[in-house]
Amino acid sequence: MKKYIKNLTGGNKAGTVKLMSNNIVYKKYDLTIPRSKKLFRNEIKFLKHLEYCDFVPKLIKYNKKKGSLYMTYVGDSIPDTPENQQRISQLIKSLHLDWNLMRHENNKPIYRRSTHNSVINKDNKMFIIDLGSKRFKIVGPKKIIN
Ligand SMILES: Nc1ncnc2c1ncn2[C@@H]1O[C@H](COP(=O)(O)OP(=O)(O)O)[C@@H](O)[C@H]1O
Ligand SMILES: [Mg+2]
Repeated sequence: MKKYIKNLTGGNKAGTVKLMSNNIVYKKYDLTIPRSKKLFRNEIKFLKHLEYCDFVPKLIKYNKKKGSLYMTYVGDSIPDTPENQQRISQLIKSLHLDWNLMRHENNKPIYRRSTHNSVINKDNKMFIIDLGSKRFKIVGPKKIIN
């Protein structure tokens, strides 16, 4: 599709993540591994659910048979500081209360998340990425506008 620029390293290693030209991220999951397949399905489902949320990447296209997806590139990784952690917690809380996607453990909301799974872009705006995690769960209808 687009020219490949560089590899983006992932924590989970469920597959490959590449930055393409035109600020597009290509992510490919290994569908032969049941856990990866589940992460892939979840990521598609949750990105669709959050289509109008302004602090997650936009899903551009995907291929269910290949386990691949394209989404917008939203910036570079951020340092793990208490201030950043607090901002991430606010976004995770908003995902739950405003967007009906809860991060949870045993069905109790948890608003903590490692900065390794979040990014910040140039104009100091923070985004939540890597939404496949089994800790996320849809708890209400999709919101159409913010
Ligand atoms: N939409 C995106 N915008 C910017 N960077 C991204 C995006 N998606 C992934 N990355 C980068 O690629 C890394 C790995 O992607 P991630 O979705 O966390 O994959 P994994 O499932 O392997 O953890 C992230 O830590 C981040 O640095
Ligand atoms: Mg990750």
